[in-house]
Parts: sequence; structure tokens; C-alpha cells
Amino acid sequence: MVKICCIGAGYVGGPTMAVIALKCPDIEVVVVDIFEPRIIAWNSDHLPIYEPGLDDVVKQCRGENLFFSKDVEKHVAEADIVFVSVNTPTKTQGLGAGKAADLTYWESAARMIADVSKSDKIVVEKSTVPVKTAEAIEKILTHNSKGINFQILSNPEFLAEGTAIQDLFKPDRVLIGGRETPEGQKAIQALKDVYAHWVPVDRIICTNLWSAELSKLAANAFLAQRISSVNAMSALCEATGADVSQVSHAIGKDTRIGPKFLNASVGFGGSCFQKDILNLVYICECNGLPEVASYWKQVVQVNEYQKTRFVNRMVSSMFNTVSGKKIAILGFAFKKDTGDTRETPAIGVCQGLLGDKAILSIYDPQVSQEQIQRDLSMHKSELDRPPHLQPASPTAIKQVSCVWDAYEAAKGAHGICILTEWDEFKTLDYQKIYDDMQKPAFVFDGRNVVDVDKLRQIGFIVYSTGKPLDAWLKDMPAVA
Ligand code: UDX
Ligand code: ADP
Repeated sequence: MVKICCIGAGYVGGPTMAVIALKCPDIEVVVVDIFEPRIIAWNSDHLPIYEPGLDDVVKQCRGENLFFSKDVEKHVAEADIVFVSVNTPTKTQGLGAGKAADLTYWESAARMIADVSKSDKIVVEKSTVPVKTAEAIEKILTHNSKGINFQILSNPEFLAEGTAIQDLFKPDRVLIGGRETPEGQKAIQALKDVYAHWVPVDRIICTNLWSAELSKLAANAFLAQRISSVNAMSALCEATGADVSQVSHAIGKDTRIGPKFLNASVGFGGSCFQKDILNLVYICECNGLPEVASYWKQVVQVNEYQKTRFVNRMVSSMFNTVSGKKIAILGFAFKKDTGDTRETPAIGVCQGLLGDKAILSIYDPQVSQEQIQRDLSMHKSELDRPPHLQPASPTAIKQVSCVWDAYEAAKGAHGICILTEWDEFKTLDYQKIYDDMQKPAFVFDGRNVVDVDKLRQIGFIVYSTGKPLDAWLKDMPAVA
């Protein structure tokens, strides 16, 4: 029986391995992690991540051919194929700080693999890593190999949170990069055989290592670029009276452009986009391509501008100050159908409002109070570390309270601010909310979820990103 071990039981490793186990009953899959609470959660009824359909998949194969364990070394030693899916945050100090990926966790995983291995292994890069990481990892493994043969493959993950299980069941493509040697090709074939259990072979693309690594960064950079493009357009729409949804619809009908990923927003978040673009920027700089680097840097700069613009709109419409004002924050996750808050635009917006001394009442159906407090009080460099290296209990911010209901959040508030496009925010009883708020009552919609006309009829002053401005807002500067 082929044995697979995945190092890292996070958002990528957990769901991916669960689906491999489900689709390949003849393969034993063990997911290992050094963070014991995560392993305990994977073995319980309350999985550590919220992902539609995941519970079902895990229930079907856990204990059969899918296992979660903290016994990292034992399972790595026994495996034929080792996936590595550990944290790769952006470096915060030293060479490449703020741009390059921090490969500390990857390197320590590679050294451990070399240390405990007693048989030949295929080692698969699953976490997004800079181009040429495979080469570095290969060096660590071969210089410590004691005669064991290691083949490195790059098999980047393209799943999106919230649709991870569907993305894994029916991937647009599976990408496998490997060495162009006979051993490398054999390793590619072995991994191809795993995916071929359920993915049509014409969707499995095999390339060299560097193409696979770069394709992952390129895919995320292109996707993020689309969002920054439409967000840049949203500022222009507000200035000219155009409606960004109409513009998106009109351009998306061009089959060369296509309709997806054209929703204007308060900015993109998530663990991949920003990190991967910064990585790309760093690679360009290292390869003497400053013009190409600055081209990609703009995607991140527009994303930052969009968040600042949103906060400035809020503050300037509320008489240029939110000091002492209660603002209801609806949604904190970086997008709907996930409890993940990594790089969520909500952090920047809330911090901007707190900087102006607002009092925040936050509601998100999937994010805990503890997580919100961590995100708002801890520095980004601490948040990016693996959980066992994060400070245990950060100091809670007094001006922030978390409630479990949108109505409770909005009670007595001066303004509402929508930061995640949860479906339930579309169907709230906004008349009831209006009646319980201070007047004038404001709605700032960073996700284009509310019916602007309906809310204006109720009496709200409404700002919705990229939509024609409320008369109230027209004379207020977007960026003070
Ligand atoms: C992304 C890629 O889609 C996925 O292929 C890759 O493997 C990991 O990174 P993910 O971060 O889970 O996935 O979410 P995604 O759906 O891409 O959304 C990223 C961010 O962009 C979210 O904050 C989302 O709200 C925002 N977004 C998305 C927009 O603002 N507008 C859009 O039109 C689409
Ligand atoms: P991703 O989104 O890429 O899956 P996560 O942060 O969700 O990233 O998960 C990465 C996981 O990897 C964390 O649970 C962390 O504890 C684990 N991890 C990091 N380094 C190691 C290691 N050397 N051995 C085992 N697990 C590790």
C-alpha cells in the first residue's frame, strides 16, 4: 500500500489530504503537525477549519485510510510520498524583509525529513514557495541523504477557501513539476497516478520544477491584479457617477476578459495574494528586473489605497471624526464561507477606525472573539507564525467588543460597515436596524451587498464601493 504523509495540518494540508484519502482508498494518508491542539481538533467532531463539505469527507475516511497525528517523525519515516504544507510567511527582518518568503519552517521540515528517512522518498512542495525553493530543498536533502534517493516535486495548490472541497473534487487543473531526468519523470508519474484516481488525465499538467513554482505565483498575481484593476476602476466610478457593477458586467461580457473576479471590494485578503505578489516582486528584484517588480508592486499598492480610501470615506462622511462613535462591523473574515482572517481587509479598516478612536462592535458568523482580538492587537509578524509560536493571550483592546448577532452589533451605532459578503447581510431587516441606530444613520458597504436604493428609502446615508455617491458624500473628499 502506498503511504502518503503530509507535514502541516492547515488550510491546505487538511482538506487536500482528506480528498486524496477519499478518492484513493488504496492509499494510506497521514497528516502530521507539531501543533498538537490542531491534531486533536482534526480527530474530533469540531474540525479546526470551517470549509463546506469537509466534515463529510473527513467522516467518511478518518480511521479507515486517513489519520491525523502529532507523531511527525514516525509517519515521515514510513511514507513513500511526503507532502510539505507548512507556513511560509513573508520575512519580517533581514535580507528581503517585507517581500521574500520566510523558509524557516520549510527548511526545518526538510532537515527533519533527511534525518528520519530510511527509504527513498518523493518530497512534494505544496505550500506556495518562491521559485527555486525546490533547488534549495533538494540541496538540503541530498547533502544529508545517507545514500537515500529524494525526488523533489512541485505540486502547487489552487484551491480557494470556501470552495476548497469542490475545487479539489473538480480541479481546473493539477500541476506537477519535476526534474527532467528519468528519476524525476518517474516521480512525476507516481504523483500523477495518485491524482488520476479522480482527475481526468488531460487536466494533469506536467512541467519542469521552475514552471510549476512560477505558475502558482503567476496565477495568484493575475487574479489579484484583476481585483486591483476593478478596485482602481471603482474609485473612478465614484468620481464620475458610473456604477462599478455595471462596468464590470459590461466588460465581463467580452469573452476575452470573462465575468469572474470582477467584484469591486474594500480590498482583497487571504493568505496567498499579497504574500505571493511580494514574493514575485522580490524575485524580480533579485533577477535585476526592477521595472517588472514595480509593475507587480502596484497591485499591492492599489489594494492598500482601497482600504485607506474606504476608511477616509467613513470618517469624512461622519463629520470628519469617529472618535467615541459606535461603529458596527459586519463581517471580519477575508471572504464569505470561511472563518479565516489572514490578511483580511477588516484588520486594516478596523485599525484605521480605532486610530480615530471609534468604538467597534464586531459580528462575523464564523470568526471568534479571541481571533478578532488577536488580529487587532498582535503585530502581523506574530500572526504569521505557526500557532505554537504565537503569544498565548494578547492584551484585549477595550474599544472592541464582539457580538453574535448583526442586530446587536448595530444597536445604538452611528454607522454600519460591511466588510465580508456573507449572504445573511443581504437579507437583514434594515428598517429594524435603522430604528435602533443613532441619526443620521450610515451604511458603508465595502462588498456591494446591500440594496442601496432600498436603504436610502429607509433613511440611511449609504456609501457602497464604486456606486454613484449619496448626495451627502458628494462634497466630502475620498482621501482627506
Ligand atoms: C486564492 C486563489 O483563488 C486560489 O486559487 C489560491 O490557491 C489561493 O488564493 P483564496 O485566497 O482562498 O484563494 O480566495 P479568493 O476567492 O481568491 O479571494 C481572495 C480575496 O479576493 C478575498 O478577500 C475576496 O473577497 C477578494 N475578491 C475576490 C474580491 O475582492 N473581488 C473578486 O471579484 C474576487
Ligand atoms: P496553509 O494555509 O499553507 O495550509 P497553515 O498556517 O494553515 O498554512 O498551516 C501550516 C501548518 O504547518 C500549521 O498547523 C503549523 O503548525 C504546521 N507546521 C509548521 N512547521 C511544521 C513542522 N516543522 N512540522 C510539522 N508541522 C509544521
